[in-house]
Amino acid sequence: MRVWVALVIATALVLAVWRRSSPPSSHVPRVRTVVRPVRRLQDVRGYLARRATVPVARVAEMTRWETWEDVAQTWPDVSDRHTLRMLARFACWAYYETVPTHLPDAPGWAWSTKFGWKEGGLRGQVFATAHNETVVVALKGTSASFLPGGTTGQRDKDNDNLLFSCCCARVDSSWKPTCDCYHDPQTCDSRCMGRTLIERSLYYPAATDLYNNISYLYPNSQVWVTGHSLGGVLASFLGATFGVPAVAFESPGDRVAATRLHLPIPPPTTPDEDAYALVPVTHVYHTADALATGQCVGRTSICSRTGFAMETRCHVGQSIVYDTVRYLGWSVGVLPHRITVLISDLLAHDWEPRIRAAGSARAVHGWLPRPVPSLPGRAVPAPQRETLCQGT
Ligand SMILES: *[C@@H]1O[C@H](CO)[C@@H](O)[C@H](O)[C@H]1NC(C)=O
Ligand SMILES: *[C@@H]1O[C@H](CO)[C@@H](O)[C@H](O)[C@H]1NC(C)=O
Repeated sequence: MRVWVALVIATALVLAVWRRSSPPSSHVPRVRTVVRPVRRLQDVRGYLARRATVPVARVAEMTRWETWEDVAQTWPDVSDRHTLRMLARFACWAYYETVPTHLPDAPGWAWSTKFGWKEGGLRGQVFATAHNETVVVALKGTSASFLPGGTTGQRDKDNDNLLFSCCCARVDSSWKPTCDCYHDPQTCDSRCMGRTLIERSLYYPAATDLYNNISYLYPNSQVWVTGHSLGGVLASFLGATFGVPAVAFESPGDRVAATRLHLPIPPPTTPDEDAYALVPVTHVYHTADALATGQCVGRTSICSRTGFAMETRCHVGQSIVYDTVRYLGWSVGVLPHRITVLISDLLAHDWEPRIRAAGSARAVHGWLPRPVPSLPGRAVPAPQRETLCQGT
């Protein structure tokens, strides 16, 4: 009898000690990272200084004379839904001038500093881990009426149209073109577009300046850049230029602008390699977003009434694309472009289990004839390269 009592007490003690030593369960999962190599300019600051002084016509050939290096970078793990969602929250906070210092949604992270709110133009917020091991630079996107924050609307729109329309935002004869490269409906002078972008697009030099300033503040940190819409494109340009991981949410196609701006992209190792697909940039968007998918084309498009000509659709780097039109029956528009759609809807659920459930519901109610294939449950769609993207 005594032996049994002793055994029961001993088991209870062991259990108590074991429960104490197991870590407290946190409700919000932590950010996950992966280490991957990135090829980048050995002297990016020197390159940018030279780029600012050479004649515009020579910018295109500049990278031919540069030296490149391969460095290991700690990336956010973009297959992890919670990591993406936290970055999306940071990108959303970039629209607001005031951010709470303590972020319950992002354990281990805190707000660190803000930039550009007094000067106008490029603005955003910086978040950091406890000892500045990793910092996230979140850039603010366009301030159209359907987006929160700011008074930079008209300037943002001009720059958006310069970057993302096929030709100077001349949608039809009623539009005042933003540049002189439009000749007739079949011809846009692409060298002229490149020249205009390099001369007039305020955002690229402003973004690289800003990055220089921030990396001076955090000399030993791993930097990640993020943003929504135009902010995401700027993040993508910085990722490509400085060779740091960038995650862009709901950004319009940035490949044409990256090409026209002649970003310092490493030369491909084989002639058929697509260098623009190899930059450390991850785009995250969904198919019902008219701006991210380049469906703002022509006079009758949803966006043209709001003064936007966002016609480009091919992205650099890799893309995580939620096909909300096909699997969830969403209709294409401007409103699905909001970052809150990602934060409180798409990134709040595991994707494949969700579309399977939606598929069976539709099969039962009979309005989706084709059943959704039963796949292993990925939380986030697999990234793909837009190497075969047709058109702009
Ligand atoms: C992190 O970097 C910022 C900006 O340089 C600095 O103000 C802060 O003291 C740093 N924090 C730590 C814990 O080193
Ligand atoms: C970078 O820092 C310099 C010097 O402090 C300042 O003049 C400039 O405006 C800053 N640039 C940006 C984009 O913040």
